[in-house]
Amino acid sequence: MSNRKILVTSALPYANGPIHLGHMLEYLQTDMWVRFQKQRGNVCHYVCADDTHGTPIMLKADREGITPEELIAQVGKEHLADFTAFGVAFDNYHSTHSEENKYFSSLIYTRLRDAGHISSRTITQAYDPVKEMFLPDRFIKGDCPKCGATEQYGDGCEVCGANYASSELKNAVSAISGEKPIDKESVHYFFNLADFTEMLTDWTQAGHLQPEVRNKLAEWLDSGLQQWDISRDAPYFGFEIPDAPNKYFYVWLDAPIGYMASFKNLCDKQSLDFDAFWAKDSKTELYHFIGKDIIYFHALFWPAMLKGANFRTPSAIFAHGFLTVNGEKMSKSRGTFITARTYLEHLNPEYLRYYFAAKLGAGVDDLDLNFDDFTQRVNSDLVGKVVNIGSRCSGFIAKRFNNMLSAKLAEPELWAEFVNTNETIADFYEHREFAKAMREIMALADKANRYIDEKKPWLIAKEEGKEAELHDVCTMGLNLFRVLVAYLKPVLPTLTYSAEVFLNSEVHGWIDELQPLLNHQLNDFIPLMTRVDADKIAAIVEASKENLEKTAAPVQAKQFAPIADTIDITDFAKLDLRIAKILKAEAVEGADKLLHLTVDIGDETRSIFAGIKSSYSPEQLEGRLTLVVANLAARKMRFGLSEGMVLAAGGDNGIYLLSPDTGAVAGMRVK
Ligand code: 2FM
Ligand code: ZN
Repeated sequence: MSNRKILVTSALPYANGPIHLGHMLEYLQTDMWVRFQKQRGNVCHYVCADDTHGTPIMLKADREGITPEELIAQVGKEHLADFTAFGVAFDNYHSTHSEENKYFSSLIYTRLRDAGHISSRTITQAYDPVKEMFLPDRFIKGDCPKCGATEQYGDGCEVCGANYASSELKNAVSAISGEKPIDKESVHYFFNLADFTEMLTDWTQAGHLQPEVRNKLAEWLDSGLQQWDISRDAPYFGFEIPDAPNKYFYVWLDAPIGYMASFKNLCDKQSLDFDAFWAKDSKTELYHFIGKDIIYFHALFWPAMLKGANFRTPSAIFAHGFLTVNGEKMSKSRGTFITARTYLEHLNPEYLRYYFAAKLGAGVDDLDLNFDDFTQRVNSDLVGKVVNIGSRCSGFIAKRFNNMLSAKLAEPELWAEFVNTNETIADFYEHREFAKAMREIMALADKANRYIDEKKPWLIAKEEGKEAELHDVCTMGLNLFRVLVAYLKPVLPTLTYSAEVFLNSEVHGWIDELQPLLNHQLNDFIPLMTRVDADKIAAIVEASKENLEKTAAPVQAKQFAPIADTIDITDFAKLDLRIAKILKAEAVEGADKLLHLTVDIGDETRSIFAGIKSSYSPEQLEGRLTLVVANLAARKMRFGLSEGMVLAAGGDNGIYLLSPDTGAVAGMRVK
């Protein structure tokens, strides 16, 4: 059983956004499984990385006025800080934008190419003539060809659910520049997935997949495998394809190779044997934990790429379902789109680790985070059952016996029952049946509490001459507590650590090796966990709500002004519009409508008089961003010189200052 050599991965999170609780489901599931394997005495390496390439990351960096390298460095740090705070113990956390990944991506690609599995041909795609780039489907928007809903993207209609080619969108425009896309040709490279039909038919049926996933794969294989487009044209943030200038690997080509690359990086740091894990004849185990939305990539493309490039294939892919919150898809307006950071600011991460464990099975069902259920389970199981045993017994041992345990194990059979359950619990953990493992552990906790309830140490303590009995009962109780904590170690590493300090004894291996603590000196009891505070949950929901504009009644423009005379693009290009930060806003003596603004437009400050006093007080304005026309000739007004103009929409209903989306900074030019 022991001495297995295992390499485990979780899917690589994209480097363009924060980690949220949906992500955490996967990392916690994986981390608990890895910790279990290590506790069992197996060699187990857990690697991950940020998934850093692709158009969205490139454009986000662009919008923020930084390089993609700066963006991914920043986001990578934030991701790792979140994971660490949740107790996710990667052995290595790397980046797909790394030397190792570049090396393996090129290696795998050239091996596939040399074996005849790559083809190239010219395809026609939507192209943004202003931004001078090809447009991925989700960057094209227009009206849905099926239901006519406006503002729909090329990757599907959110209103009617229709899937269509982006070329079918009506009134399509580039979501980046607003320009109408044109058709443009370019050469693309394809991976001939169909070359692997036979191999994949066997592999997907050979016990590497969960039954429901295997069935889905059989459907996909029946409908025939298509060539996979693995190249993208410049500009693209990624790796250039060898011998194909200005062509880049599509992000999904180098992402799974990132698993290998992160492991290689670990091997170099710790002198581990890379080939033992990746060579074709490897005897080690390789597992990928993923969400059910990316099965196609992991159960078809990835094994085929590995096979075609002469590497080993995964031992298994473990897919999980999505996280819902209070029964619904996570939603910003309901405050249920909760980032890892927001959660961490309010609640103990081990609550969530336990809750997920208490609900996770081996299948691909979605998991619901219901806040009432969450509170109830944590309070009743962890605080009410497990921690309670420790606190009930430790007081007597401290006060009456100087924190020294007795020499006798009062109920050897009960101890044996606790320890003998280890194979059942191990089996549940091994097969990712965490909920079943938790149920088994809580059934033992009930037994331990029953033992204490029956013995009633609080009564024995009052009786004369019953010192030895009190000592034995509490010693027994604490030994049972220790077994429970040892079983929970993969799920609750922090609570376990505090319990180990209190018990003055570390749990090293699996529970079959555990010996009772007798004649053993304890440390003072450490409070291990407090009850979930309902106010904290409310605070999380509040903090997660989108900052919806505080609008009283919906504002309607009474009358639209007629569209002004047409200008051409050169007229428009004459305008220098800038993001500006309002540094100071002051009322102007003698002027009813004017405010005097001092604004920062990047490399200089300007003094501007704006007729917005009826809608804004100076305090509301200081610090906020807005837009100004920076090249408007300065105008001498009655109260001073105005060096620009702030942009606002307005009419009878009030004045509305324009502001950029979050992330913009003063000085950016509006294009
Ligand atoms: O779906 C995603 O979030 C991807 N970033 C997962 C990549 S997993 C692996 F293949 F790298
Ligand atoms: Zn539609």
